[in-house]
Amino acid sequence: MLKRWFSTLHVFGRELVANPRQVGAACPSSPVLASRIAALVGRQSDGYVIELGAGTGAITHALLSAGVPATRLVPVERSERLASHLRRRFPHVGVRHGDACELAQLATELTADGGGHVSHVVSSLPLRSLPPADVRRILDAVSRVLGDRGLFIQYTYSVRNGTESADRLHWCGRSVVWLNLPPARVDVFATQPSTAAEFRRTSGWDAPATDLATA
Ligand SMILES: C[S@@+](CC[C@H](N)C(=O)[O-])C[C@H]1O[C@@H](n2cnc3c(N)ncnc32)[C@H](O)[C@@H]1O
Repeated sequence: MLKRWFSTLHVFGRELVANPRQVGAACPSSPVLASRIAALVGRQSDGYVIELGAGTGAITHALLSAGVPATRLVPVERSERLASHLRRRFPHVGVRHGDACELAQLATELTADGGGHVSHVVSSLPLRSLPPADVRRILDAVSRVLGDRGLFIQYTYSVRNGTESADRLHWCGRSVVWLNLPPARVDVFATQPSTAAEFRRTSGWDAPATDLATA
């Protein structure tokens, strides 16, 4: 257990030194942050769960523990080193070494021939340090690939100012996780206003006073 933790920190640290802007975090996600996110997905994942920027797999692990089937979980990671680490850690999961900018193509491939739908996109991407054109492309693809009841879950390290607005997505709510280094804020978005309203009624998360979506 301790050995795996050190090995995870080692692989994360090497990637951080090599690509600080792409990694965008000082540490892997804490188990508390990972399970806060996974609890949202595990309770209602009936489609593919695409995890963008899976890194060392802290959230991947929590999603599997929350009941997301390995066959429905698709971690995407741009770093070759981290993608190899993920494949070793989760040999039964179809890890993709690739760019989140290719999300639309990935979803088309997964759902071709009526092979299901994408119910969740979970993102650890450092949106504030990625090129703005990439961020627009990724958020645009998120709103297109998610089904009617789909949810997009993104966390940031800015506890006060999260990701409240995303094109064509409706902000459902936020939750701050203090037990993470640094503390993180998780924001949830839905493609449909009715799904956002249901989330606010049932999740117990802090809800926005008004829907800030730009739809
Ligand atoms: C904050 S770290 C991930 C933390 C992860 N939850 C963990 O516990 O290790 C962000 C990850 O996003 C990956 N990343 C950054 N830009 C990406 C992109 N365009 N496509 C896919 N992955 C990307 C980085 O390589 C890094 O592994």
